[in-house]
Amino acid sequence: MLLEVEDLTVAYGDIRALSGVSLALAPGELVSVLGANGAGKTSLLMGILGLVPVRGGRIRFRGADIGRLPPWRRARAGMRLVPERARVFPRLTVAENLKAGRWGLGRNGRAEERVRHLLDLFPVLRGRASQPAATLSGGEQQQLAIARALVSDPALLLVDEVSMGLMPKLADEVFEVLARLNRQEGLSILLVEQNAAASLAISQRAYVLETGACVFAGSASRLREDPRLKAAYLGA
Ligand SMILES: Nc1ncnc2c1ncn2[C@@H]1O[C@H](COP(=O)(O)OP(=O)(O)OP(=O)(O)O)[C@@H](O)[C@H]1O
Ligand SMILES: [Mg+2]
Repeated sequence: MLLEVEDLTVAYGDIRALSGVSLALAPGELVSVLGANGAGKTSLLMGILGLVPVRGGRIRFRGADIGRLPPWRRARAGMRLVPERARVFPRLTVAENLKAGRWGLGRNGRAEERVRHLLDLFPVLRGRASQPAATLSGGEQQQLAIARALVSDPALLLVDEVSMGLMPKLADEVFEVLARLNRQEGLSILLVEQNAAASLAISQRAYVLETGACVFAGSASRLREDPRLKAAYLGA
């Protein structure tokens, strides 16, 4: 397994956001974490990254126990987050925004190469490298935020509600980009979403959180067919 989370508990003072959640992700997998507002999705990602108080549980990444490492060492081990409402630097160009993501690559000049590769991978960014990021549409800025997180060539991309605030057509484009990165580049992705239908369509497996606890773990197709979960999460 690339990532193994076992019995993870996250609490903010007296407020328990996550209660004993376990999850695993194999190399090359795209896995969704679904759940309503306040279910604990962001807390799960932040717990994995070490950015919120973890009260219990274990986190293994690439075979090593990272549960006690500071956030920057977890990032350096090869995980990157595209945060909720990810922002790009509006006055910097697309290329400058991408270069801002090179932390962890070292000083050997590979950043230029990665930026070129990413401009190739994202058709909407291609040809716009020297344009200010503010001139991109909302959906294109989200794609730039994803591309920026990939400059350091992470083994695992954590994505928090990347479709939020986008109209369906633009959200679909972002999901298509994630699916392509997973299929063609073999990128491992843990995708947190409220848009269950769209994220399940590109996921191999899924977990569902309800008030901080895991209520479903299984294949995306099984979740799509589960009558109770379908009613709750897919509006059917
Ligand atoms: N910094 C914080 N301090 C106190 N409580 C918090 C904090 N962050 C989150 N919580 C609480 O923890 C619970 C889980 O929140 P979390 O943000 O993880 O949910 P979420 O599933 O990401 O929700 P959303 O879909 O709205 O982003 C909620 O009850 C929330 O109010
Ligand atoms: Mg959230």
